[in-house]
Parts: sequence; structure tokens; C-alpha cells
Amino acid sequence: MREIQVLDKHFELLLSREVIASRVAELAADLKRKLQGETPLFVAVLNGASLFAADLLRSFDGDCELSFVRYASYEGMSSTGTVKELIGLKEEVEGRTLVLVEDIVETGHTISLLKKHLEMKKAAKVMVCSLLHKPTEQVVDAQPDMIGFELDKEFVVGYGLDYKGLGRNYADIYKLKKS
Ligand code: IMP
Ligand code: MG
Repeated sequence: MREIQVLDKHFELLLSREVIASRVAELAADLKRKLQGETPLFVAVLNGASLFAADLLRSFDGDCELSFVRYASYEGMSSTGTVKELIGLKEEVEGRTLVLVEDIVETGHTISLLKKHLEMKKAAKVMVCSLLHKPTEQVVDAQPDMIGFELDKEFVVGYGLDYKGLGRNYADIYKLKKS
């Protein structure tokens, strides 16, 4: 589909499922190289990173574990700037290598708070792997270690990303059409 509608908004195709799949495979191979000899704990950030994390792990050829956390920072189409923990990590992380899996880093608030939490729990290493990044919107110094795609200042849905809870189920990524 070239275009979709989610509630009152119209979106157009930005990244096809084929483009996403090949980049995700590259990221998994890159992670494997960087984490040679380690058994990382992948920490996926719900709800947005669920689809990305599933595909990233399917492509990751090595021993690893998976867990989930949930934070809230977004309302509608803008970041609130404050981040609330909804589901925390149950696993012991002291001395471990963690890979935080995010759908998108915008202001950087979510990822910097999560990174601080995990470092406080004495993780040996915390790497951030984000499928998408909006570099011009970043206000907190929390550069992801690995990025799938850089975006301009544009709102996107699909492949886990939502607008008011909808649109996560699309296999491709769409950007908001300028009206
Ligand atoms: P940050 O804390 O501002 O970096 O925001 C990160 C979170 O905001 C992401 O994990 C997403 O859930 C959400 N977000 C940021 N940009 C978009 C977007 O374009 N579409 C959907 N959700 C977004
Ligand atoms: Mg998210």
C-alpha cells in the first residue's frame, strides 16, 4: 500500500518491509560482530519496539536473552518530556551486557533515562540499538550506538509505531502526509 489512513491522519509509504528487513539483518550481523563471545540480554522497549525486536532477534545468530520494559513519554503526536516507568526489568543485570532495543529515538528522554536506570543496576555495558532516529529533534545527549534509519522531523507509523494506539500492525513504515 502506498498510502494509509489512521483515524484523522493520512500517511504515505516511507520504508518498505523489504528495505526494513535487509537493514534489520545488517544490524543483527553488526551486533553479533560487536558482541563476540558475549551472551547479551536484549531489552526491548514496549510497545513500539516489539516488532523490531522480534525480527532483530530472529536474525541474531548467537546466544542471547530477551526481556521487556515499558515506559510512557508520548501523547498523540508529541513527546511530553517526562518519562514514567510502567513495567520494569525483573532480570538481574549486574555485570551483564545489555542491548536496549528501541523503535525510535526523538528527544532522547526515554533512552537516556532507561540507560541511567540500567547503569545504576550495575550493567557492565549498555548499548542502544534504535530502528529509527530523528537527529534534529534530539534535546538530550543520548546518541544511540546503532541506528537503522535517520529521519527528518516527520511523524511515522507502522512496524510497531503508532498514532494514538493505532497503526502498529502495518508491515511497512509510513510518514504523515503534509496537508
Ligand atoms: P523520546 O523520549 O522523545 O526519544 O521518544 C521516544 C518515544 O516516542 C519512542 O519510543 C516512540 O514511542 C515515541 N515516538 C517518537 N517519535 C515517534 C513517531 O514519529 N511516531 C510514533 N511514535 C514516536
Ligand atoms: Mg517507544
